[in-house]
Amino acid sequence: MISVALVPLFIAVLASATSSVVLPTNSFSSYSAFEQHWNYLYPWGSDHNGSGRMVGSSSNHTYISVADNVLTLTSKPVSGQPPSTSNPHPAIHYFSGTVHAKQQVKVDGSSVTGFDIQGEFIAPTAKGTWPAFWLTAVNGWPPESDIGEWKTGSIPSKVRSTSSSVATKRVAWPTDGQFHSLKAELRTISGNTKDLSIKYYFDGTLQATHTAANFRNAAMWLIVDLQMEGSSGSPGPAGGTTFQIRNVQLTKYTP
Ligand SMILES: *[C@@H]1O[C@H](CO)[C@@H](O)[C@H](O)[C@H]1NC(C)=O
Ligand SMILES: *[C@@H]1O[C@H](CO)[C@@H](O)[C@H](O)[C@H]1NC(C)=O
Repeated sequence: MISVALVPLFIAVLASATSSVVLPTNSFSSYSAFEQHWNYLYPWGSDHNGSGRMVGSSSNHTYISVADNVLTLTSKPVSGQPPSTSNPHPAIHYFSGTVHAKQQVKVDGSSVTGFDIQGEFIAPTAKGTWPAFWLTAVNGWPPESDIGEWKTGSIPSKVRSTSSSVATKRVAWPTDGQFHSLKAELRTISGNTKDLSIKYYFDGTLQATHTAANFRNAAMWLIVDLQMEGSSGSPGPAGGTTFQIRNVQLTKYTP
């Protein structure tokens, strides 16, 4: 009786579903869950435009580790390393951690009409620490969207569409040792085939709505990194630092 009664309800729920979780909040519950959903390092390798060189693999969790549903990225000072292989080739002063999601983010307006990207963070804000939770184009650059890019005590939620088109909303980041949440909602704009709308939330409160020029149809990587120094100043902390992340979720919207 009960199962028969539930069948129409179940079908109705499936038929009206317009969103699906494509990266679940338990991806930091074990290394096998992590490796199912994430890759170690940047999509292009270990180096970028700061003084951190990323180190991590399935056999080396010194700088990239998961436990109790929390991802911990750790930076530690290092010396004697060759400079970064990425522009502008800064000197390397730290080993650190970066990961990127296997699931790319792409809103084409036909098969995918939106994405929600969210997570919770305990982020270092000291001078010379440059953690970020961000999207960057798979092919070329920009587009880029920094959902959180922590520099000296605050975060911008930022869209970078061309090098001359940057919209920034600055929010003071709490240093209370507690997790705080960020969320970005990417959506199509009615009658617009080139751009997307992005709403940025901090602890559930809308902070900014940006028009993200030329984001429609652009495949993007989701990156969580603990970069060091670079545009966050120097010197960074002598003892290194940690960046903790949990409950990262990607939700895809379909028509
Ligand atoms: C470093 O790279 C980030 C991410 O690609 C970019 O937003 C930023 O403009 C770059 N900064 C410098 C100083 O090169
Ligand atoms: C991880 O790799 C780094 C860089 O090669 C090395 O210094 C460190 O000892 C390695 N850790 C482990 C546990 O293998």
